[in-house]
Amino acid sequence: MNVMVEGQGSGAAQAGEVLAARVTAHRDYTIAKIDDRIYSGFLEHLGRAIYSGIYEPGHPTADAQGFRGDVAEVVKALQMPFVRYPGGNFVSSYNWEDGIGPREDRPTRLDLAWHTSESNEIGIHEFMDWCEIVDTKPMLALNLGSRGLDEARNFVEYVNGPTGAYWGDLRKKNGRAEPWNCRLWCLGNEMDGPWQIGQKTAHEYGRLSGEVAKALRAFDKSLELVVCGSSNPKMPTYPEWERIVLEHTYESVDYLSLHMYSQNKAKNTAEYLALSETLDRYIGTIQSVINVVKANKRSKHDVAICFDEWNVWYHSHEQDKAILQGMEGWPKAPRLLEDIYNFEDVLQVGLTLNTFIRRADVVKIACIAQIVNVIAPIMTEPGGPVWRQTTYWPFLLTSLYGRGTALRLAVASPTYDTETAGEVPYLDIAGVQDDAGRTITFFAVNRHPDRAITTAVSLEGFAAAKVVDHQVMTHPDLRAVNTMEQPDLIAPKPGTGAAVEGGILHLTLPPYSWQMIRVGV
Ligand code: AHR
Repeated sequence: MNVMVEGQGSGAAQAGEVLAARVTAHRDYTIAKIDDRIYSGFLEHLGRAIYSGIYEPGHPTADAQGFRGDVAEVVKALQMPFVRYPGGNFVSSYNWEDGIGPREDRPTRLDLAWHTSESNEIGIHEFMDWCEIVDTKPMLALNLGSRGLDEARNFVEYVNGPTGAYWGDLRKKNGRAEPWNCRLWCLGNEMDGPWQIGQKTAHEYGRLSGEVAKALRAFDKSLELVVCGSSNPKMPTYPEWERIVLEHTYESVDYLSLHMYSQNKAKNTAEYLALSETLDRYIGTIQSVINVVKANKRSKHDVAICFDEWNVWYHSHEQDKAILQGMEGWPKAPRLLEDIYNFEDVLQVGLTLNTFIRRADVVKIACIAQIVNVIAPIMTEPGGPVWRQTTYWPFLLTSLYGRGTALRLAVASPTYDTETAGEVPYLDIAGVQDDAGRTITFFAVNRHPDRAITTAVSLEGFAAAKVVDHQVMTHPDLRAVNTMEQPDLIAPKPGTGAAVEGGILHLTLPPYSWQMIRVGV
């Protein structure tokens, strides 16, 4: 967390006022090393994420296996360390065995989570191949909804076990002798949610996931296991859910999974942009719960947060109702959760990533949900092009340049009042020093609708500095979107006017803007 400095700039801004903010960055004043895995993604068997998303045999760019080359290239550019798969709600009634062996023998199943048909053309072998293509690693979720311990341990052994025993030999027969050695495993998905197939109480889930963890550790002590926390901070069971689940599992898991999606159904931008403060408090509360359980258990073990689903999700809610209510039967790979993101969502995504950077001490993994077509920064047309949504850009630049050590900034910014989170600063900023110690990168959002913020960032303990890169995203229309026809309408543009003088970085943040500024030191 940054430190809000009282005094200059606090209090509501008046119309006509010129806004000014002060920030201090000190080389020795750091939060934690940022875990690169906070730039991970999530791919679910849902809508067109897989079929006509990453996979479309017959597409002009498809490889021999049917993976779209154009999509792979745009995904790869994001440099996601991990991709979570295969769900999501989908996993809670998924039979992983349906997706192995000859394709012609794989069954089509009804997917109860999204009311669609799953052909199982893509299964674990194909997903692992795709991970290699886009240069990422798998984070696999186990079905603890409709299934349980036995299927979970079998799947883990199928993926990671040696040949010479049943599951490894079956994997070899299906074309892969070498174990994949997948390290990260999710013990179910959103098990607190009434919508989940096989929802459980915290005690039921805590017992089950603890036993599954025990079995998986008996197979391989070094696996990294993620236990389900709350689906969002409005769940009636939050945060008692986390306490109970951790009471059962604390010593046997490494991460607690949290999810949150932001919405602006009321078209209230001021409140919408305050949601990152809700996110910050959500993380802070759960960090406290983890600490309480750790103390109760006199444990030396650490559990961190894995924020394995986050994004904006609401634009498509109305249009999805017919399919989700079963009014269209069981369609195969229909258009579902195809949110089209606007400029306002750029600010939201930037704010979320800034929050994860400032919480680098406890958030060690985060997955943007999702990657392609389904609430995604990347969209495709069957037989047609791939294109980037507005939100692709803050994710890309933060993933590329937000790696290193998070700086604990002292920030003095004017604020405004919100229902959502009380007083919220107009300026949101995160700072990162790269591992080589050559660059500091700031990611900043101006939440003000019509005032620029002139910002002075005092760079203390750093050698002579100069601006090496400055990218700005702003647009007069918050609702403006990119489309297949106009894919580059909203994209970063080089910023102007930023300079370092006498150890102070001076920059101006236009109203409603996101920007990245990199300073060589
Ligand atoms: O990402 C879409 C859905 O959101 C996931 O399937 C589920 O885990 C969450 O509710």
